[in-house]
Parts: sequence; structure tokens; C-alpha cells
Amino acid sequence: MSWLDIGALGDIPQRGARVVKTVHGCVAVFRTGDDRVFAMDDRCPHKGGPLSEGIVHGHAVTCPLHNWVFSLETGIAQGADSGTVATYPARVDAGRVLIDAARLRAGRAA
Ligand code: FES
Repeated sequence: MSWLDIGALGDIPQRGARVVKTVHGCVAVFRTGDDRVFAMDDRCPHKGGPLSEGIVHGHAVTCPLHNWVFSLETGIAQGADSGTVATYPARVDAGRVLIDAARLRAGRAA
């Protein structure tokens, strides 16, 4: 993997997100309450809601438009809703947030 440093963990509020613009679109990078980070496309598969503006709870995010809930780990909608958001490998190293640049460049998601 080729890791891209997108900033300090402290720059993302707990249970918040920041948006990274890529050639393939915007990627939302989430920080959970237990200081894990997850990256996924910032576009809800339902009607395009900005997931980065959703509510983070546990390792999931609720879309701000119609409340669909997605796993941050798999990108799969939970409950009765159906749909999947593309996810990207992300991790924290020495207080820096890293996402898999190779995956972004390729335009492929996990
Ligand atoms: S746009 Fe996300 S739930 Fe409708």
C-alpha cells in the first residue's frame, strides 16, 4: 500500500469527519469516539447525501438526509436499507491520519 498523510488526527473532531478531495471525488475521513479512523466516499448511495455531515455513532454513520446507517468498516447499509459505500483503508500512525493513496489513484475501493 502507498499511504497518503492527510493531516493530524487532532484535526478531526471525535465522532466527526473531514473531506479529502481526490480526482475520483470527495472522500470522507471519519474519526470515531475510540479514535479509530475510517475512509469512504462522501456520497450516500441513496440520493447522494454528504456522509461527512452525518452522525457518527460507534463504528457507523447515519446519513444526514434520510437517516440510512452505514458501517464505517464495510460501507454496507444496516437494517432494512440497502446499498454500499466504497471504503478505503485508513489508519493512524504517530498521530497522523493515513489513507491508501494507491487505492484512491486507482479509483477502486474495498
Ligand atoms: S441520501 Fe442518504 S439516506 Fe437518503
